[in-house]
Amino acid sequence: MAMKYYGLVLFILCCIRMSWGEDELPGSFIFGDSLVDAGNNNYLNTLSKADIKPNGIDFTASGGVPTGRYTNGRTIGDIVGEMLGQPSYSIPFLSPNATGKAILSGVNYASGGGGILNGTGRIFVNRLSMDVQVDYFNITRKQLDQLLGASQARTYLMKNSIFSITIGANDFLNNYLLPVVSMGTRISSSPDSFVEDLITNFRLQLTRLYQLDARKFVVGNVGPIGCIPYQKTINQLNADQCVDLANKLALQYDGRLRDLLAELNDNLPGATFVHANVYDLVMELITNYGKYGFQSSSKACCGTGGQFQGIIPCGPTSSMCEDRSKYVFWDPYHPSEAANLIIAKQIVDGDSRYITPMNLRKLSHL
Ligand SMILES: *[C@@H]1O[C@H](CO)[C@@H](O)[C@H](O)[C@H]1NC(C)=O
Ligand SMILES: *[C@@H]1O[C@H](CO)[C@@H](O)[C@H](O)[C@H]1NC(C)=O
Ligand SMILES: *[C@@H]1O[C@H](CO)[C@@H](O)[C@H](O)[C@H]1NC(C)=O
Repeated sequence: MAMKYYGLVLFILCCIRMSWGEDELPGSFIFGDSLVDAGNNNYLNTLSKADIKPNGIDFTASGGVPTGRYTNGRTIGDIVGEMLGQPSYSIPFLSPNATGKAILSGVNYASGGGGILNGTGRIFVNRLSMDVQVDYFNITRKQLDQLLGASQARTYLMKNSIFSITIGANDFLNNYLLPVVSMGTRISSSPDSFVEDLITNFRLQLTRLYQLDARKFVVGNVGPIGCIPYQKTINQLNADQCVDLANKLALQYDGRLRDLLAELNDNLPGATFVHANVYDLVMELITNYGKYGFQSSSKACCGTGGQFQGIIPCGPTSSMCEDRSKYVFWDPYHPSEAANLIIAKQIVDGDSRYITPMNLRKLSHL
């Protein structure tokens, strides 16, 4: 008899805990560029948009209708959220629906063309830079106080929310490396001082998020931007070559980013900054694509121009590959959903090769 009750009590404890855990894992606040934009640029007057077909062709939640995501299906942010039990995708901040309870699953501030520096992405006319994305989170922060009350809002943000930041690539691609002299910063800045400028700004931005009660951070480094179909095409490289300067700049920034996150882990009490080594992850997919079931890591599945379809972004008049799951790159700049799935899996459950000092599964349980 006693054993029987004991079992029942254990059962109840287990299952109450489990459902509590699920209910309390809602917040995913996403900052960054087109790699994780879920539709903010649909609401901007900008030349950087992904609201035309066939973008989103494999995005089940919209029935294949373009949502503003710069890929054929889910972004890394979407997939990571699913894997961690987020009840629904983080809603774009600029969407008219981003009000009331809809923001309790988290909010997405990412914007195609956006960078750490305010001037980055100027060629697109409009985009949300990281400073503006943090300003917008400050607005959400006040809405959360109203929705949950001050004390619960703090717990929700500090314990049950993850802040992911995927930014920096445009600071090189659409700023420092721009061939148009009047648009880029290269004319007036050495690589060292440009990278230091990025780190100085990023330190302030991450610290502002901390001041607004963010505690669990995952920050992606800049990927091998010299290996994207766009760079390979305009530099007329072979399939197995990458643009040296672009990759070198990315690696230089990535080294300083690692130092910055270590410094913030030491200096901001109660915060955990996790470093996602997107550079090595994507490089592994590009180099050993066959091992992961891909047929090409040099050509864009959807795009136009040159030997890698790498000049004009994906749109209704582009040619599209037959099997989208066989391409590492969806378009001249962005990974396919198939690549995003592999990257997300490593970020959530991978080991110290790609995610340090802990993976996102562990971070979410802290
Ligand atoms: C807003 O929500 C309504 C009702 O759920 C939906 O029909 C509509 O598509 C949403 N609009 C946007 C822009 O997401
Ligand atoms: C960038 O713009 C934001 C908002 O417009 C402003 O608050 C910030 O000071 C600017 N940053 C720099 C480095 O100019
Ligand atoms: C958030 O906004 C308030 C004004 O509403 C301002 O006083 C505060 O400095 C802002 N916080 C950050 C971190 O930007």
